[in-house]
Amino acid sequence: MQKKINAEEEKAKIDKRKVVENMARKKIAVIPGDGIGPEIIQEGLKVLDAVSKLTDFSYEKIDYDFSGNRYLRTGELISDSAISELRQMDAIYLGAVGHPEVKTGILEKGVLLRLRFELDQYINLRPIKLYPGVWTPLKDKGPEHIDFTVIRENTEGLYVGIGGFFKKGTPDEVATQEMINTRKGVERCIRYAFEYTQKRSRENKLTLCDKSNVLTYAHDLWQRAFQEVGTEYPDIKKDHAHVDAMCMWMVKNPEWFDVVVVCNMFGDIITDLGAMIQGGMGIAASGNINPKGVSMFEPIHGSAPKYTGKNVINPLATISAAQMMLEYLEEKRASELVEQAIVEVLSSGRLKDLSAHSGVSTSEAGDMIVDSINQAASKS
Ligand code: IPM
Ligand code: MN
Repeated sequence: MQKKINAEEEKAKIDKRKVVENMARKKIAVIPGDGIGPEIIQEGLKVLDAVSKLTDFSYEKIDYDFSGNRYLRTGELISDSAISELRQMDAIYLGAVGHPEVKTGILEKGVLLRLRFELDQYINLRPIKLYPGVWTPLKDKGPEHIDFTVIRENTEGLYVGIGGFFKKGTPDEVATQEMINTRKGVERCIRYAFEYTQKRSRENKLTLCDKSNVLTYAHDLWQRAFQEVGTEYPDIKKDHAHVDAMCMWMVKNPEWFDVVVVCNMFGDIITDLGAMIQGGMGIAASGNINPKGVSMFEPIHGSAPKYTGKNVINPLATISAAQMMLEYLEEKRASELVEQAIVEVLSSGRLKDLSAHSGVSTSEAGDMIVDSINQAASKS
């Protein structure tokens, strides 16, 4: 009898543990996408697998084939039911979308922007960080000078797609594209930026980047929201840069910036410049954040069709996006292990160049990160 009770208790314990483990297991939707997307995502997943063996982080991968290839085959982009499923995930991990045979704009709007908008990922978080050992085109600048974060508004501005043609194709043609700024949208982005600056706790400085000298309505709203929300954060230094000057300062004095908040379109542009000063598209990662919903992590670069299947693209940007995802999921140890491995591999000089011509293959670069993670873990 006693034996039976013990066995039952034991079984109940195991069941309970399983429930807890299942609850802790993160559901990650994976969208490899087009071109080199699947190759780089594979390396990112290799890294996630490595840290899941070493830490409390555990995950379940749910694959979604939203891509140009599938669109060409079936005419389908993303179904409404897939969007509902994605709402149930803990995070989304995206490779790249873009296919040379699909007309420009279809996949951008139908996949990437649709996900950002429908899941209300109103922040696009883009760290501009020069890692030790990475070449920057800026003379006399090093990792101590290039380390700031751009917070790009991600659901409004020129991206909403409101506009149209009049007399299209005639000499009298008119084309409009509206720049939409809502008080709610601007304010929540600015508030997120102040909170982020406070948490980052580096220079405690937030720069508003706009074009308020010309966009005297749209960016007047940004200026007012910035000042008003700013009164709630007396300890944060408030700074301002017009977007044209911002481009100049990013090249001349990148060390002036700590956190930058910017509208959607200008954020798109300045973060490509940012990617270049941090060593190129091979390292720049981003997070599309909905602080109360599902967030999506991706490299900034595109699908690089001409390199598809060649195993030459460096996966570090995608691995860095995985690191951002782990941090967002509050998997502290796992995120630290990945970050340390990126720093170690880059500063060791084993990956001399982040381009497609480094001589190190996509999978070899992924292996280097995994080896570095395993070595660090075995030492600690
Ligand atoms: C980016 C990309 C996208 C954007 C495109 C592909 C729609 O350039 O993530 O920066 O403009 O936001
Ligand atoms: Mn872009």
